[in-house]
Amino acid sequence: MTSNIKYMSGVKGLKDIDVDGQRVLIRVDFNVPVDSHNNISDDRRIRLALPTINYCIDHNAKSIVLVTHFGRPKGSFNEKYSLVHIKKRLERLLERKVEFIKDLESSKDIVCASSSQEIFLLENIRFHEGEKQNDKGLSKKLASLCDLYVNDAFGTSHRKHASTHGITEFVDTKVAGFLMMREIEAFSKALEDPVRPIALVIGGAKISSKITLLEAVLQKVDKLIIGGAMSNTFLKAQGYDMQKSLYEEDFVSTAANVLQEAKKFGVKVYLPVDVVITDSIEKPINVRVVPAQDILEGFMAVDIGPATLKLFTQAVELSNTIIWNGPMGIYEIDNFSKGTFKLASAIADCYAYTIVGGGDTADAVDKCGESDNFSFISTGGGASLELLEGKILPGFKNLNRVVE
Ligand code: 3PG
Repeated sequence: MTSNIKYMSGVKGLKDIDVDGQRVLIRVDFNVPVDSHNNISDDRRIRLALPTINYCIDHNAKSIVLVTHFGRPKGSFNEKYSLVHIKKRLERLLERKVEFIKDLESSKDIVCASSSQEIFLLENIRFHEGEKQNDKGLSKKLASLCDLYVNDAFGTSHRKHASTHGITEFVDTKVAGFLMMREIEAFSKALEDPVRPIALVIGGAKISSKITLLEAVLQKVDKLIIGGAMSNTFLKAQGYDMQKSLYEEDFVSTAANVLQEAKKFGVKVYLPVDVVITDSIEKPINVRVVPAQDILEGFMAVDIGPATLKLFTQAVELSNTIIWNGPMGIYEIDNFSKGTFKLASAIADCYAYTIVGGGDTADAVDKCGESDNFSFISTGGGASLELLEGKILPGFKNLNRVVE
């Protein structure tokens, strides 16, 4: 059976088609983190889209329309989510002027009227209700702006929206951009043709959001290293009293099943042996390290402890491929960040192929200054999770294929 990754690697890329003289629409993912003053705190997603944009510029595309969402507006204009500040950063990075199209209704006239090669940025596509509904009318409008559709929004490729999916019904030539291709190549290297042993390091808050992933990877990985609040549910399944720790009662039996299945598939599971505990996250004054089975009354586990860090470090050191998704504790709070940050450095030091799923984990790796020491950091949070779960992402589904 063809795997989802093999299927997605079979889509055409920009180099498989002729861009010369074409009106191109590129779906990018410029959903970047910003601070309270709307300053972009990490422009990686914009920088990583530049190769695709520059390729279209260099290969004489007639016009280039960039489409992205930003944040989660509710289907109508909201200044907070306008792309004005993103346009400025894009112009700086591209070293070119970018025309801002505020109104989709007039966009066709504006794009058609352009004589010299122009780059347009369309205002936040989620200001239109039809985007999330994968609406045909909106998809058609977007399609009317181009002869050629390029999807380079890996971070949004798990969404079946008008600009990531619906539009493909109305454009004949539709391909993946370089960022999409890089992501698939990276995950392919880790999962299709990996150097074993493979370790999946998994963390984050909820087992419920990652259960499909856990079940899917048991047949692929050699080691499963579980930390973060998610490990609390596994520890509970082992009969430990988790006191005030966050865990999912409804998933305790699921966790027990995962442990049993892992045994069946010969996957070694690593769980915390000690944890950092506190009685208050807001006022972390009483903070201690205790064995995982000795959490004090009224306390909760908020990070992995030093013995666990040692155990996890040894497990990753003896792996040749490491995939990491999810922090080991509440890394946003200094007192509870050590486990995540130290494990980031330990993985970065490994002589292995190391890949980080986006979102919080990428942010944590960045915060501890280890970004350059990983083999690959995905731009997709939810998208990389669904890819690991074995799904074919909607953003890849209808693109032209190398062999139809
Ligand atoms: C992301 O940041 O994960 C993507 O841009 C998708 O955003 P969404 O979760 O709001 O669809």
